[in-house]
Amino acid sequence: MKIIVKDNYQELSRLAASVISDLVRKKPDCVLGFATGATPIGTYHELARLHKEEGLDFSKVRSFNLDEYLGLTINLNLPYELDQSYARFMYEELFKRINIREENTHVPYGLTENPEKFCEEYEKMIKDTGGIDLQILGIGGDGHLGFNEPGSSFDSRTRVESLTQKTVDDNYEAFYKKAGVSKDDMPRKALTMGIATILEAKSALMLVSGSSKADIIKKALEDPITTEVTASAIQMFKGDAIVILDKAAASKLTRI
Ligand code: GLP
Repeated sequence: MKIIVKDNYQELSRLAASVISDLVRKKPDCVLGFATGATPIGTYHELARLHKEEGLDFSKVRSFNLDEYLGLTINLNLPYELDQSYARFMYEELFKRINIREENTHVPYGLTENPEKFCEEYEKMIKDTGGIDLQILGIGGDGHLGFNEPGSSFDSRTRVESLTQKTVDDNYEAFYKKAGVSKDDMPRKALTMGIATILEAKSALMLVSGSSKADIIKKALEDPITTEVTASAIQMFKGDAIVILDKAAASKLTRI
């Protein structure tokens, strides 16, 4: 695992985008695993800039997102701030800004009537592409990877997961509050790739920004591996794993 500390969020985003764009240039039909949250937004916008200004071509790229809220999916009739689905997030922050083909993008379908079957199919779809070449990851405030909350087995596969109160509160503060959504109406369940699904990717790129992540990322990267901090599974990653942090997020690390 390679750990890289950049001075600030902008530099983190630029480096992350260059890791992704190098792969897209080398393997135009690569399979990317996308993450949501505030952290990768700068990276996605930088990819959009590379597409617009340097012609970075996503026309053959295929993608799978880590997770989606159960009960939500993209609704373009709603203003963006009222549509909190991850499918909408991906459309607004990345997909509509680049030339990726809609049919090549996959975000777990939050309105599925049969989540168990859907999750099995999602796993199969990933396998059928030959697997994810590069999985982008973040870390939740409670150490989650995707939406694999504390206690999730390292053998877990794509499934429905109940969100912890900490995750619901974090999501409320980061996104839902400004949309005027009441705390009672917050989604409490999600579809998420499992830890085993994530660990099968050929390479991983974890992005961590801000002082609020300093304690939890220290636990994930330097403390013993534990299902209490599912992001610590990154220490078991067999392929190449790169973690890019800004200085604030890296402030508690001791092995830099
Ligand atoms: C959500 C996503 C995670 C992501 C996390 C971090 O919980 N399900 O995959 O890593 O947010 O979000 P942020 O970047 O906003 O801190």
